[in-house]
This record gives sequence, C-alpha cells and structure tokens, in this order.
Amino acid sequence: MNIPVELTKQPKTLPPAKEFGFGRFFSDHMAIVEYSKDGAGPSRSWKNPKVTPYAPIPLDPGAAVLHYGQELFEGLKAYRGDDGKVRLFRPEMNWKRMQAGAARICMQAPPLELFIEMLKSFCRVEDRWIPKEPKCAFYLRPTLIATEAFLGVRPSNDYLFYVIGSPVGSYYGEGSDTVKIKVETEFVRAAPGGIGAAKTGGNYAASLRAALEAKQEGFAQVLWLDTTKKHIEEVGTMNVFFKMNGKIVTPSLDGTILPGVTRDSVLRLLEEMGTPAEERPISLEEILTASHNGKLEEVFGTGTAASISPVDSLGINGERVRVGEGKTGPVASELLKRLTDIQYGRSEDTFGWTLAIG
Ligand code: COI
Repeated sequence: MNIPVELTKQPKTLPPAKEFGFGRFFSDHMAIVEYSKDGAGPSRSWKNPKVTPYAPIPLDPGAAVLHYGQELFEGLKAYRGDDGKVRLFRPEMNWKRMQAGAARICMQAPPLELFIEMLKSFCRVEDRWIPKEPKCAFYLRPTLIATEAFLGVRPSNDYLFYVIGSPVGSYYGEGSDTVKIKVETEFVRAAPGGIGAAKTGGNYAASLRAALEAKQEGFAQVLWLDTTKKHIEEVGTMNVFFKMNGKIVTPSLDGTILPGVTRDSVLRLLEEMGTPAEERPISLEEILTASHNGKLEEVFGTGTAASISPVDSLGINGERVRVGEGKTGPVASELLKRLTDIQYGRSEDTFGWTLAIG
C-alpha cells in the first residue's frame, strides 16, 4: 500500500526533550483516511488515505461524534532504539481493541493493513520527531470519529480515521518515581454491560471529576472500584497489579475494564519470569487486610502512557494505606526493565512484539 504524502511548508521547531511532558506538542503532519457508506462497491469503503500537514479538521456542527460521542482512540508509542531503529510496540493489539470498541459502539474501523500502513507512513514522515533521548518516545494517537451530520440517534454512516503524534517524556512529570493514589468511593468509571472495555472518550470524561478532586487532595490519580464499591477495577488511566501475600494478582477482564496492551505484556513477562499473575476479582477488603498485616508488598499501574507506574500508598477516607516500603518494588523494577529493553531494542524480542519501521 502506497500512502501519498504532502509535506508541510512550515516545519515546526522541535521542542527540547526536557519540555516534552506528555501530549503538549504535536508533530508536523497527520495521517488521515475517510470512510463513507454511500454508494456501492469500492466507493463504499475507506478512501484516500494520505499523510498531510497537521491542521484542523473541517467538521459539520451536526457530526454524530459531537452529539452522541461515537468516538474511539488508541495510544501506542514509536521507540527509537539505541541502534537508531524505530519500533512500534504491538500495534496489532491496538487495532484489535479498536475493532472490539467499534463493534460495541457501532462504528466502522479501518482494516488491519490500512491501520498499520497509516502508522508506518506517518512515522517515516515524522522521523525527526521520534526522540533519541532516553525514556522518551513518540506517542501515536490513532483516532476514529463519526462524521455524518444527522441528529437522529443511530450509528453514523461516515467516519474519519486519523493518526497524530506527540514527542513524550514522563506521564506524571519528573520527580518521584512513585505515585499516591486515592481509593475512589463515590464516583465510578464504568458499569456492567456498559462501555468500560472500549477506549472511547466518554469513559475519560466520566473519570475527570474524580481525578480532579483527587489532585486537589494531593493524589496523582484514583483507584477505581466497581459499582458495588467492593472490587478493584483500574488505577487512573491504567490497569493495576498487586503483589500481596507473596502472589501477584490483577483484576480479571469483566467488560468494565480496559484490556490494556501493557497489561497483557506484563502478564506474559511475569510468566517468563516464573511468577505468573492470577487474573481474578480482587476485593478492597483483601487489599486493606494485606496492608494491615504488612503483606501488601507492591502495587503498580500499567499503561502505554505511564508504562509501569509504582504506587507508594493508597488513601481511603482520609486514612493512609501503606504499600511495601513506599518505594518502587523489585517486581515493578524488573518488569519495567524487561519491557523497556524490548521496546528500545536492547534485548532480543522473543515475543515478536515489535514492528521495526524501515
Ligand atoms: C495509556 O496509558 O495508554 C492511556 O490510555 C492514557 C492516555 C489516556 C493518556
């Protein structure tokens, strides 16, 4: 597949790596493709994929995405290895999740070959934006929106799929390696039978109020509970793992939890390390008891943006729940090393997870 490229006439100045933060800067171009259900045969399909200068997207004010939230997004990173090569990490997993999300909220998602080719063509054009600095990467944001202007509540007939990119450093900012988390006992992120497993904007809108209040109280993020307020679901925008009573556990995917690519990779790495994790419902009670008995050894979040993010303590109703020694534990450290060694091409990719961009 050959995707046409129109280069920008006004390339931006690259920001210095120390200013990257997360998602503050956008690169020079975007990859974009349209879907229309009009017509028959080849006209009823994805048309005109291209890489063009980064620019606002013309959108009808009646577009379904703006009214009923028919939208999906993905997040993955392009890593520049120590050998200079650029690698994508498990992009087909992002495609799979977008397909599953599209089935849930009745959208048309691009086929695998188109999805991957758009990412590759975009990264080739944006090569100078893919950072060389340690711990930095080029964050890719594939996005699918419903563009048909129509106010009846039904699935849109037209869609736009695009990819934008941002050079990124640390998600939580520089400073401490660990984060403080508030156990959220009022708001919930997702409900059984709902859209918690889909990476759609509405789930993130639902999370904002709790995250804002947690920040005002000095926490980095919240620990989400289920609708019964008894079981653990996620941490902030990440999946969550616990090491307690000598075992590693993570909540099983029950339809309310986002199936994270890093979560899946961590499960596979833990198997490789000879310490497989249990996927099962985890009660808050269990966590509090383990901490009380000095058996809550580690808690960490997993996600593309923040990678492996250790938690030093949990706050619940004004009380502090201790986690291990309050610093990064050995399991989180080992996982971070193994994962980033594969992503940056420092160790052999025995899982076949990386896709080098030629
Ligand atoms: C990720 O960690 O991949 C995320 O989805 C976080 C993003 C919403 C900033």
